[in-house]
Amino acid sequence: MKLIKSKNYQEMCAKVARIFAAQITLKPESVLGLATGSTPIGMYEELVRKYNEDRVDFGKVRTVNLDEYIGLSGDNDQSYRYFMNHNLFDHVDIDKAKTFVPNGLAADPEAECVNYENIVASMGGVDIQLLGIGNNGHIGFNEPCDEFPECTHVVDLTESTIQANARFFASMDDVPKQAISMGIGTIMKAKKIILMANGKGKAPIIYDTVFGPVTPQVPASILRFHPDVMIFVDEEAYSEIA
Ligand code: F6R
Repeated sequence: MKLIKSKNYQEMCAKVARIFAAQITLKPESVLGLATGSTPIGMYEELVRKYNEDRVDFGKVRTVNLDEYIGLSGDNDQSYRYFMNHNLFDHVDIDKAKTFVPNGLAADPEAECVNYENIVASMGGVDIQLLGIGNNGHIGFNEPCDEFPECTHVVDLTESTIQANARFFASMDDVPKQAISMGIGTIMKAKKIILMANGKGKAPIIYDTVFGPVTPQVPASILRFHPDVMIFVDEEAYSEIA
C-alpha cells in the first residue's frame, strides 16, 4: 500500500487523473472501475480537460461503477448513472453502451447482482479501480459489519443514510432504502486500486485504514491485503498520520 500526499485537493485530483490517462494510453480498452460522491469530481474534471486537450481518448474504454440506488432511474439526478453521465461520460468520446452501472430499476435486484458480477468478470476484470471512502471506512456501499461481503449484493441503507438523503427528494417515500453494491471481493479482484480522500473529516479513517487492524468494522482496511493499492490524500486527510 502506497500513501501519496498532495498539498491540496486540486493537486491530488491532477495526480490521479494522470494515472488514469496513462492507464488508458497504455491500454486503450482498459476497464475502469469508477466511483461517485464528492471526492472524485475534481478528478473527472481533470480527465475531461485532458480529453479536450487531445491528451486522452476514451473511444475503447469500458467502465463499471461501484454502486447504484435501487428504485432510481438513470434520469433521476440523484442516481449514480446520472452522476457519471453528468460528470464524465457526456463530456468525452466514451461509448455509453460500454459503461455499466448496476440497474437500480431491475425487477429482481438479487438477479441483477449476479448479472453485474458476471458483467465485471466477462470484461476480464477491472484494470484500475477508483474508490472514495466514507467517514466510517465504507467503500462502495460496504458498510462496517461482521464479515466482508464477497460479491455484488443488495444493501439495506442505514436509517442515518436514509435521513441524510431525504433532503434531495420530494418526499420520504421517494428516498431510496436499498442499493446495489460491488462486494469487497469484487473490489479486491481489481488489478490496481486507487483510493482518494481529502479534508480533515477523513483524517481519522485514513489513519485507521493504514495503521489499524484489518477488520470488516473498517471495510477499507482490507485494502492492505491487496498487492497494488495507492491511497491519495491531501494534507488535511493526512493530518492524523504526521
Ligand atoms: C460512491 C461510493 C462511496 C463514496 C464514499 C465517499 O460510489 O461508493 O463509497 O466513495 O461515500 O463519498 P464522498 O466522496 O462524497 O465523501
